[in-house]
Amino acid sequence: SDIARLVQALPKAELHLHIEGSLEPELMFELARRNGIEIPFNSVEEIRAAYDFSNLQDFLDVYYVGMNVLITEADFFDLTWAYLQRVDAENVRHVEIFFDPQGHTDRGIAFATVVDGITRALDRAKSELGITSKLILCFLRHLSEEAAFETLEMAKPHLERIDGVGLDSSELGHPPSKFQRVFAAAGELGLLRVAHAGEEGPPEYIHEALDLLKVDRLDHGNRALEDGTLVARLGREQMTLTVCPLSNLRLCGIKRLEDHPLKRMLALGLRATVNSDDPAYFGGYVNDNYIRTAAAIDLSADEIIELAKNSFRGAFLPEAEIERHL
Ligand code: HPA
Ligand code: ZN
Repeated sequence: SDIARLVQALPKAELHLHIEGSLEPELMFELARRNGIEIPFNSVEEIRAAYDFSNLQDFLDVYYVGMNVLITEADFFDLTWAYLQRVDAENVRHVEIFFDPQGHTDRGIAFATVVDGITRALDRAKSELGITSKLILCFLRHLSEEAAFETLEMAKPHLERIDGVGLDSSELGHPPSKFQRVFAAAGELGLLRVAHAGEEGPPEYIHEALDLLKVDRLDHGNRALEDGTLVARLGREQMTLTVCPLSNLRLCGIKRLEDHPLKRMLALGLRATVNSDDPAYFGGYVNDNYIRTAAAIDLSADEIIELAKNSFRGAFLPEAEIERHL
């Protein structure tokens, strides 16, 4: 279709991607075999059939089991390289990827193993594919503040390769305020700050992410639309929202893609972007997110172009680099 051709042709940045959420069932099987790890599935089809979620927690329960097959530096490299090759073919020119170190270090995997594997793939993407990247360490918000501080401590020898911190996992009951001090410490280290807020949590969590965590970008942010004052502020500050339409659909934040608020966000003057979140689990990489959403809510070519430009405007790149992509 015309929309698909436009989306394919547009240079894009992806700003909301959990690298562990790009683990395709085929690679999960392969790594389970390679590492002698038991997984509770007998086939790729069985894995895909298990990806039927009713909310965020439902998904997270499966996501944390899936990542158990990741053991060696080569596993983290293979995972990341597969994602990068995939999005290279979709004309993604810049990526800012999340990783969840606590999902690995709590299983006895060294922090360095994770970072080394991921960054080796990022370096190869830069030299072979011309894809630039940033790496964002996410704290798991269902775990304690103390555990987050321990993770930040583990990151210290690797700050050359880590650009920012984020906050993900179970949102409800784990407000940003729980991590105010560790985000302040990350800021002191010169790290950028982002947080998932308003995916399932109330607008108050978005206020906290802005005021207490001092985020440079907001992940999801959908529920900001319930709060007019907040919408006005996000527009005024041109805060980037990393929206993930197929994720919202699969985690039942919306009933149908036709109900997605992306068009409304743009109309309200919000700097919304389109991202895939956990593409292996939610059934679509970034271009699918653009194409299916555009079809469902009737985005115009101009709106699609604006979304792609926003992905660079919201990127943690120097102004000159951003301009080069617009
Ligand atoms: N939301 C919150 N935490 C996550 C997600 C998500 O979509 N994916 C991986 N961790
Ligand atoms: Zn996410």
